[in-house]
Amino acid sequence: MATQSATQETRPTARAAITARHLRTDRWWFDPLLTFIVFGAFVIYGTWAAFDHSLVYTHVAGNPTPHRWFYAKPYLSPFYSPCVADGCPTDINWASADIWHWLSPALYILILPLGFRATCYYYRRAYYRAYWLSPPACAVAEPHKKYTGETRFPLLAQNLHRYFWYGSAVLGGILTYDAVVSFIYTNSSGYHFFIGVGSFVLVINAILILGYTFGCHSCRHITAGRLNHFSKHPIRYRWWTLVSKLNHWHRQWAWASLVWIALADLYIRLVSNGTITDYHHIF
Ligand code: FES
Repeated sequence: MATQSATQETRPTARAAITARHLRTDRWWFDPLLTFIVFGAFVIYGTWAAFDHSLVYTHVAGNPTPHRWFYAKPYLSPFYSPCVADGCPTDINWASADIWHWLSPALYILILPLGFRATCYYYRRAYYRAYWLSPPACAVAEPHKKYTGETRFPLLAQNLHRYFWYGSAVLGGILTYDAVVSFIYTNSSGYHFFIGVGSFVLVINAILILGYTFGCHSCRHITAGRLNHFSKHPIRYRWWTLVSKLNHWHRQWAWASLVWIALADLYIRLVSNGTITDYHHIF
């Protein structure tokens, strides 16, 4: 009892009276500022790309030939994959769904990856800091007076992350398929092996998307959550070990895959409308 009383006497009862907003002297503002710029640029570009699925005309044998500019055979923009709506070129249309043809297919295709990224544990940390300053950095006070966390609507919806993961894992498989078919060129004489700069762009895109998706914190839980003894579940332990290695670099996967998917979309558009040449060879 004597020791406890002594402790209570020396415990401070209020915060130290510091007039400065924080005592950090490093460039703590750099990370949130970079996030603000890069993420903001992606949202602006992604919104434009999602709405713009217009027709472009290229000249084939002297004739103007219309096609969607998110497709430059055999490359399909990852923003428009899987192509399931009216307006998709016939050789890549998965379902010929003649619905909502007045909408860009990207709008309903992107709901899944956007939901996945917006609820990602890493991105939450990044955009809470960059956009809501909540807090802007460690040991830097936030401007808000009240903190309710993620226990109420709308932030309660962040708990949907694991469900977005299931859909995004399927989407990762589809983007991998797109990367594989970018090595195949079909014409009236059949199938040909094709290799081009765009093929590598899509392969890198698939690798980054898979690395990001399978390094997800929810994926760690899916592979080995609720286990009491790893020794009794060696296969799940192996999967968990692999996922944990990816998870260690989750931040890097997150940014690399975000930037690269926009670059891949841009590359395919520029090839599609003839602004740049895709160097390739058909065997
Ligand atoms: S935690 Fe980032 S994708 Fe799941």
